Amino acid sequence: MTDNNLAVVVLAAGQGTRMRSRTPKVLHRIGGRSLLQHVLDTAGTLDPDRLLVVVRHERDMIADAVQDVAPDAIVVDQDEIPGTGRAVQIALDSLVDFGGDILILSADVPLLDAVTLAELVAGHRAAEDAATLLSAVVDDPTGYGRIVRAGDGTVTRIVEQRDASDDERAIAEINAGVYVFRSEPLRREIVAITSDNAQGELYLTDVVGLFRAAGMPVGASIAPDPAAALGINDRVQLSAAAAELNARTVRRWQLEGVTIQDPATTWIDVTATLAPDVTVLPNTHILRATAIAEGAIVGPDTSLVDCEVGEDATVTRTDATLSVIGARATVGPFAYLRPGTYLGARGKIGTFVETKNARIGEGSKAPHLSYLGDVEVGVGANVGAGTIVANYDGVEKHRTQVGDHVRTGAHNVFVAPVRIGDGAYTGAGTVVRKDVPPGALALTAASQRNVEGWVERNRPGTAAAQAAEKAPNGSQEEDG
Ligand code: UD1
Ligand code: CA
Repeated sequence: MTDNNLAVVVLAAGQGTRMRSRTPKVLHRIGGRSLLQHVLDTAGTLDPDRLLVVVRHERDMIADAVQDVAPDAIVVDQDEIPGTGRAVQIALDSLVDFGGDILILSADVPLLDAVTLAELVAGHRAAEDAATLLSAVVDDPTGYGRIVRAGDGTVTRIVEQRDASDDERAIAEINAGVYVFRSEPLRREIVAITSDNAQGELYLTDVVGLFRAAGMPVGASIAPDPAAALGINDRVQLSAAAAELNARTVRRWQLEGVTIQDPATTWIDVTATLAPDVTVLPNTHILRATAIAEGAIVGPDTSLVDCEVGEDATVTRTDATLSVIGARATVGPFAYLRPGTYLGARGKIGTFVETKNARIGEGSKAPHLSYLGDVEVGVGANVGAGTIVANYDGVEKHRTQVGDHVRTGAHNVFVAPVRIGDGAYTGAGTVVRKDVPPGALALTAASQRNVEGWVERNRPGTAAAQAAEKAPNGSQEEDG
């Protein structure tokens, strides 16, 4: 139900200089989603009356990203005056008719969970404070604003790293960059902040001291899990947050009944789904909308992007994108499934096989060393080792159809467009350029001719010649 008394403001206007990136900081991704989307998704769980996002650096790119994931959000443009305090001043201009609580979130604090956030808002309301901030006690507070408390424990102010004394820098309680304010006192106090600080910016954090000076106590709620407060300013913190998020995701699936042998080398996007009794072996990446059904075994050394893996299927040392793998099918080791691969139940895509736009029917197999592109294979067929589908004539791609229960020999080339009828066979080394009727055997390989004594005449004295001489008898076949 919508919380009519709550507006959420997400700060996303900063430049993110410390990332040293062409991509705006808040569009960097962890767990398959941008930092910004993580924050917007979490904000959405509170169902606020309004959701505002303050932008400036790469504003169009960020506004588009907001539109994609939170179409109801209002995008507000910060002016050229820098600082988190300025961002909030600008947001308040769009909230003149709003009298409730304002929750401020930083778009670079992506691990904040919905429960911590809901408790922050509930605590703020229960205590009837004018402002409540989220803090965390961390091992290494470097870079964060520190929470300065008076002897009685009440919060007196926040001091930024660059403005802090040595004593203040020793404080382990940091500002998470997440606050709830009653709108009326915030509007009143925020006009008084100045840029008189080491960075010459308008700091939002300065309102805490101003509230206190005006006799309004500021509450601080310490996050139970300090990781929730992790702020991302550089790529070291980006990977730390990605690892933390992944650890949470892995744990969640483990508790749902998934065996994950090596959490440290298993990466699962927040968007993927795994059924109970799935087994994930080390060094496996399960990304985007991948869904893995009960009893399937994936890995080791496997990457699945937007794939569906059926019940009890096995996928070993495989790289697959936008592919569907049927129940009890087996894939790999060393298979490369490109977009549009569909492998039917009990089918097999084996070792060193590459597929693209390939529909391989139930129980059909391509066990070794093949390229299958723009192909339809019926049910119960076997594609011989080393088969290449020549689907591209240099200008256009063409389709190949292989019927039900076809058996093709080793080292074939199917020159598309071509059709191999149901139940047909092809010999080893066949280059199929014409359709093969159902039930026919296609042969194109030239018959073998043996030139007797060739080695003795042309390579005398070599090891091969000596071996031939010692051989008990020659070929029993006639010259071809
Ligand atoms: C800020 C806090 C610090 C806190 C830390 C938590 C201030 C002054 N400091 O520091 O106390 O410990 O977050 O992670 O607030 N932004 C704007 N407009 C701007 C500048 C920044 O919208 O002009 C946005 C950024 O895009 C970012 C967020 O505000 O999402 C925080 O800005 P950042 O520059 O990263 O602040 P920190 O130095 O991390
Ligand atoms: Ca930050």
